[in-house]
Amino acid sequence: MQQFDVLIIGSGLAGLSTALRLAEHKKVCLVSKRSINDTASDWAQGGIAAVLTDDDSIESHVQDTLNAGGGLCDETVTKMVAEQAKGAVQWLINQGVGFTRTANDQGFHLSREGGHSHRRIIHAADTTGHAVQTTLSEKVKQHPNISLLENHIAVDLITARKMSKKDVQQPPASDYHSDANACLGAYVLDKTTGKVITIAAQNTVLATGGAGKVYLYTTNPDISTGDGMAMGWRAGCRVANMEFIQFHPTCLFHPHAKSFLISEVVRGEGGLLKLPDGSRFMPEHDERLELAPRDVVARAIDFEMKKRGLDCVYLDISDKPLAFIESHFPNIYHRCLSYGIDISKTPIPVVPAAHYSCGGVMTDDKGRTDIKHLYAIGETACTGLHGANRLASNSLLECLVFGQTAAADILSQANKASPRLPDWDESRVTDADEEVLITHTWEELRRFMWNYVGIVRTDKRLSRALHRIHMLRDEVDEFYNNFKISNDLIELRNLLQVAQLIVESAISRKESRGLHFSKDHPQTEAEPIPTVLEPLNYDSLLERKSK
Ligand code: FAD
Ligand code: SIN
Repeated sequence: MQQFDVLIIGSGLAGLSTALRLAEHKKVCLVSKRSINDTASDWAQGGIAAVLTDDDSIESHVQDTLNAGGGLCDETVTKMVAEQAKGAVQWLINQGVGFTRTANDQGFHLSREGGHSHRRIIHAADTTGHAVQTTLSEKVKQHPNISLLENHIAVDLITARKMSKKDVQQPPASDYHSDANACLGAYVLDKTTGKVITIAAQNTVLATGGAGKVYLYTTNPDISTGDGMAMGWRAGCRVANMEFIQFHPTCLFHPHAKSFLISEVVRGEGGLLKLPDGSRFMPEHDERLELAPRDVVARAIDFEMKKRGLDCVYLDISDKPLAFIESHFPNIYHRCLSYGIDISKTPIPVVPAAHYSCGGVMTDDKGRTDIKHLYAIGETACTGLHGANRLASNSLLECLVFGQTAAADILSQANKASPRLPDWDESRVTDADEEVLITHTWEELRRFMWNYVGIVRTDKRLSRALHRIHMLRDEVDEFYNNFKISNDLIELRNLLQVAQLIVESAISRKESRGLHFSKDHPQTEAEPIPTVLEPLNYDSLLERKSK
């Protein structure tokens, strides 16, 4: 058993920033299921929303966030995040992140994105995430108090409640973890050796990112399999607002381009959405045109594609000079060029794709979940900031602000030893015989989630999806209980769990709001109510693998 003050699961912006804020005073273990920079954070393009100029205001940032959120944002949390944004950005600058400055070097260049009433997106050209991720990950690698375990995937959380069925040797004369529901650490699979190790920690932080891979088409990297949401749920946390999956309107449509985003900033700088004949269609859908919030633009594209039988629509920025395009969007320009598309001359073929999970493990304003000593930060959490639809560039900001508030809460606790935890028991499992079950189930799940639980939903499609999820879960649970675990099996099990939470939440919402649009319930009810799921079959879930 390895023992730390804090176990952080995930090395994106949420995990890295929390680790760095803790490391002066705590011994931190940071686990990451691939290499440290293999994260959605690294792929972020547009930037970070923050009020940084006198002609902008906190009230305006709050109002834009509330407007996008369809009545479901927590106003107190939204205000807290907007107020702390400038400090969070300054912290990144202090760490050495090089944000893009204005042409005359009079300050930072600020972009505009959909739903924002002001230019307030600070960025590093169109590779903001990479600049932030690599700066912080270098610091993490060098910090003597941070033990980095790459290629280690967390399997499940260890909780006192789960352990109460076993003998946990408590440290003598200690009342630590007296709460029956406390988190004590996690079981983690070392992907190199195939062994599951036990990591005990006084506090555990879920920073595992989103769940875009539950859909066939997504802007997300392969790591986004909803592990933290599934682990938190299995451990007994409530999850909220899982039906609100944000579909980014403009993912590159090209047979060789897997998940390449065309940033919203392209529209912010004048890019126009067009049909194949060159005509615009946004004027028929919303007065805010190309800069309407994402749910509106994605639905408009979906509508036009279905109505006209199109494979894609087009995003046209070709009226801007080449120098402008190269300086604002160097990454997008060169990547498109590598596929034979010169965006300074021709429109870019684009389609919507699953981009962001607004829901997740419910937390308070310090990132604390329902389980004592368990925090959730970043895309895996539902803090109340995003409501029914996240405002562009508020996600990286949320990682930073909650990384700070959670770290402050953890730092306020005295260091204590963890109890001795039992090892992972593999005595009743054998090597897997049919890996094909895993690959086929992945494909099937992602395809029907795209077709039945996409941008436009119906009752019939949702109930079909739920029926299939139940069948697949039975098969995968049996596989999980009888065979040695692997990375792919862990991810598939989590994806199925998250898919179920998404569909059950969508079925329970009998209206259309924000990112959830139902043809059977197109109306928006007067009172906005969040969807909160409680782990009802808690004990039977624990039975499954509490070895
Ligand atoms: P991630 O950065 O995804 O990190 C998750 C980490 O958890 C990874 O290290 C992963 O390996 C690890 N992990 C997962 N499961 C396990 C497990 N079981 N065990 C161990 N490790 C695990 N937002 C903005 O605000 N501005 C933008 O400009 C922007 N652009 C975006 C562009 C793209 C293409 C994408 C995909 C997203 C964009 N977003 C943007 C959203 C934003 O990038 C993400 O929401 C944010 O980076 C999530 O950070 P995170 O730390 O929560 O998760
Ligand atoms: C983008 O650059 O369009 C993505 C921004 C975001 O998801 O916040």
